[in-house]
Amino acid sequence: MKLTFNLLIIALVTSFFSIGCERAKEAVEEKEISEITVEEGIIAEKMANELWNKIQNEKYWINWKMWPGKEAFYKGKEPHGALLTTYVNDASLETIIQKKGQMPPGAIIIEENYMPDKTLDSITVMHKVEGFNPKVNDWFWVKFGPDGKIATAEKYGQTLMLAGKVAACIECHGEQSANDYIFTSTLKEEVSEAGKVEKEISDTEKMANELWDKMQNENYRLNWKMWPGKEAFYEGKEPHGNYLTTYVNAAALEVIVQKKEKMPPGAIIIKENYLPDKNIDSITVMYKIEGFDPDDFDWFWVKFAPSGKVMAEEKDGETVTLAGKVANCIECHGKQTSNDYIFTSPLKLEHMY
Ligand code: HEC
Ligand code: HEC
Repeated sequence: MKLTFNLLIIALVTSFFSIGCERAKEAVEEKEISEITVEEGIIAEKMANELWNKIQNEKYWINWKMWPGKEAFYKGKEPHGALLTTYVNDASLETIIQKKGQMPPGAIIIEENYMPDKTLDSITVMHKVEGFNPKVNDWFWVKFGPDGKIATAEKYGQTLMLAGKVAACIECHGEQSANDYIFTSTLKEEVSEAGKVEKEISDTEKMANELWDKMQNENYRLNWKMWPGKEAFYEGKEPHGNYLTTYVNAAALEVIVQKKEKMPPGAIIIKENYLPDKNIDSITVMYKIEGFDPDDFDWFWVKFAPSGKVMAEEKDGETVTLAGKVANCIECHGKQTSNDYIFTSPLKLEHMY
């Protein structure tokens, strides 16, 4: 009996529930993904009842975990409750925690929808059933009343059962098709551009902090040499201090003394910048890290406050952290292309003619 109940299809095509759902309704497409026969309707009802019995037997409210990061009665939006409590079975939990990208067959998500006064209004469930509806990632949708009765909606004088391939659910959750139709949190590792930039910033801050620790552990003021030919508090220029004291580690020293032309990976130059009264103002460091920035001789640039905190600067209304590939440092030091971006003295033998 493959009898198609046309009126039912038309009614399902139109969202009964479309408040808050911005997506334009592509009626034809919706019809395709939600077209069901009476036979299918009967099967869906049976599946929904079995699902209800299963989740009651498992006592999900005791034995399942809540959605990671969501407490009981967190705030929800239309068309779900004002307050929500969402439980997930083990298969879903693992996917959420391990950011696996897509829920596996067997995954069940139970969202309890509460009124503002915390009385339970309904229970909406997504259950992934292999082969059930491949066009929309095999989700089985159902809305139960608090007593386990399958909820219904009236449309065109028809009573629609909200179980199975429910067009209203699919249409709105379809906004999240790239996230396996899930709203509550992303199932994938974030790889957005903003995320990348943020990660890069936190990585360079981490590198800067490690560099500061290294400088302190090596006790550079005691154990490193000053730049050959430069004493403590030699006179400096803008934008650095009025007085400078510059320390170099062994790798940098060797290049300066032996005129080896180019600093090797691992070279560190620490310049302390002093105010006219010889109070320390800041510490600027160049650290050569192989592969860090091949376009600009692999220098890692950083400006520390005397406390060791990485300094920042306001530029065009944005805060720029002065660590890593700092444009400002590179621009000015870039004038010294033929000297490995170094000002203080030539790294090459100066030929006398
Ligand atoms: C108009 C849009 C809309 C409709 C229609 C809709 N939902 Fe949702 N659903 C949401 C949003 C938004 C969330 C995230 C929780 C919140 O903020 O309310 C959500 C969350 C859920 C969750 C928790 C998993 C997730 O996606 O984050 C389940 C389960 C769920 N809905 C089931 C259903 C079922 C079943 C139906 C149909 C009976 C339905 N929804 C209809 C918008 C909708
Ligand atoms: C406007 C130009 C300019 C800018 C911007 C600049 N510097 Fe310098 N830097 C110099 C000059 C000139 C010297 C030589 C010392 C002096 O005369 O002050 C120098 C010296 C140094 C030295 C000692 C090694 C060398 O090149 O001689 C370090 C380390 C250093 N700067 C780090 C930095 C860092 C880190 C930044 C960015 C936070 C920066 N500088 C920004 C011009 C600049």
